[in-house]
Amino acid sequence: MATVSRGQWSGRMGFIFAAAGSAIGLGNIWRFPYSAGENGGGAFVLIYLFFVAAIGIPVVLSELAIGRTTQRNPVGAFKALVPGSLWPWVGGLGVLTGFGILAFYAVIAGWTLSYLWGALTGVYGGVLTADESLSLFNELITDPTKAIFLSGLFLLLTILVVRGGVSKGIERVTKILMPLLLIILVILAIRSVTLPGGMDGLVYLFKPDFSKITVTVVMSALGQALFSLSLGMGAMITYGSYFPDGENLPNAGITVAIFDTAIAILAGLIIFPALFSVGVEPGAGPGLVFVVLPSIFGSLPAGNLFAIAFYALLAIAALTSTISLLEVVVSYFVDEKGWSRNKSAWVLGIFCFFLAIPSALANGASPFFSDFMGTGVDFLSLNNNLWGNYSLSLGAIALCIFVGYKWGISNALASLEASGHKLPAPALFGFLVRYVCPVAVGAVLIYVIVTGNYF
Ligand code: PFF
Repeated sequence: MATVSRGQWSGRMGFIFAAAGSAIGLGNIWRFPYSAGENGGGAFVLIYLFFVAAIGIPVVLSELAIGRTTQRNPVGAFKALVPGSLWPWVGGLGVLTGFGILAFYAVIAGWTLSYLWGALTGVYGGVLTADESLSLFNELITDPTKAIFLSGLFLLLTILVVRGGVSKGIERVTKILMPLLLIILVILAIRSVTLPGGMDGLVYLFKPDFSKITVTVVMSALGQALFSLSLGMGAMITYGSYFPDGENLPNAGITVAIFDTAIAILAGLIIFPALFSVGVEPGAGPGLVFVVLPSIFGSLPAGNLFAIAFYALLAIAALTSTISLLEVVVSYFVDEKGWSRNKSAWVLGIFCFFLAIPSALANGASPFFSDFMGTGVDFLSLNNNLWGNYSLSLGAIALCIFVGYKWGISNALASLEASGHKLPAPALFGFLVRYVCPVAVGAVLIYVIVTGNYF
């Protein structure tokens, strides 16, 4: 092994950065903090960490194993392994979920562009109070033209990248930008925990209050673990299908999972101390990070530069995730329907733009979508829950049943270890895939259905 060539090393790193690019996104910096805030803080975080370890890592490895062996999109992968069966429908659900998630994700991603623009024009140079920040946010989300235009713009950027193929350029760019994002997050976290009153935020984030655990908390933590790791809809099957020969797949998969989880916790270290310091409610919902962050930039030296760097990186982190969402859908139409990549990216991206419009209007611009059909829930949150929690959970359980009982743990292990790199604790992997994941995810889903705690 003394003469490992640069090319080989870069192959594995290329995968790690592309997969980390998919995993690290708005899920970590926008969704994790507000879900933790809505679900009682520490107890949610603890359950989320448990699900990452017990379900997330085995599912990452299972998806990658399927991708490496079949070298196909999620539907094609199941077709290749069990032709003529109903299993490809699991891949089909994944493709549908890709649309469902992209249609609301693009709206939030569009908000990041507006904040980037604000930073570039110096809006966050002075200290903003929580109220000032809130009114800036409300101005943005209730303006129908802005919200629709920005999500369209974000989808356009996504289409432009995907139509060219997820090129080496993207890999190279993510290799520089992801570490940069990490550095900025660490600086912001240090600033945040040293704010007056910041410690209360850490207590809220890390001290579990077990009386706060409800079925909704458990469901949200499960959905968050899957969403954040881009699991349950075949994104990792697709990315695993491009994994270079001879490289250490188990190590790469586990590295991505750890990296992703660390970034979520880091985002928590920024948001919660700042929120307690400026007196915003933890349960403020999807606007949480957008309201809290601007009020800490102003208190940093060269705060506006930080704001520019942060929102630029956040938009890029979101872009590397939307690329993977559209890539799943595009790879299906290219492989299975014979469409060209260019046509798939444009047609499916534009279709997604129309699907995104109701979510863009769901934060006050349209009363109908803001309180969808009188349910008291806005259309964006509804989709976030439906696709981002339930559909991913269903996908994950089906995948574990497939790997555990149909394809077989030994085939999955053979694929993971094809290059001779051993998976640590293979028996534990089998146990988690065969028993823990189906039982735990199944129990949560059944409990939610029986008790009717859907939101
Ligand atoms: N993991 C992404 C995030 O945390 O922002 C979101 C995502 C991307 C979910 C790709 C699912 C997916 F297939």
